[in-house]
Amino acid sequence: MMWKERYRIGVDLIDNQHRELFRRLSSFIQVVQNEDPWDQKLDDVKSTLNFMQEYVVYHFEDEERYQREIGYPDYEEHREAHAKFKEEINEYVRLMEEEGFTEESIQELAARLMTWLIMHVGKADQRIGEYAKSREGME
Ligand SMILES: [Fe+2]
Repeated sequence: MMWKERYRIGVDLIDNQHRELFRRLSSFIQVVQNEDPWDQKLDDVKSTLNFMQEYVVYHFEDEERYQREIGYPDYEEHREAHAKFKEEINEYVRLMEEEGFTEESIQELAARLMTWLIMHVGKADQRIGEYAKSREGME
């Protein structure tokens, strides 16, 4: 489990979804790395990847809605970062559909997902929480 308490932004809905993302991604990485033969676990790998693609979209929508609700000033920039990431995953998956879901390509994707998630949740999403807090102080 790669989740850390310092990733919390103080908004339950978002924190719970982030925790779930980390949980799913960790178990995805475990399946990718376990000793089972690749052919045997490929279906499992694919369906987990599929789930994560859908969950990421769902989570981004919720997080963006929350930003609009609180009038988050860097909304556009944040939305763009989400859109870019979605595109990147889709491109990875599209390439793998063409060239095959190899162990190497999945490992690379899993590492990329984890790096992005840590960076994004650890930095960009923190600023949403900070803004939400400063706003509470104004009310
Ligand atoms: Fe975000």
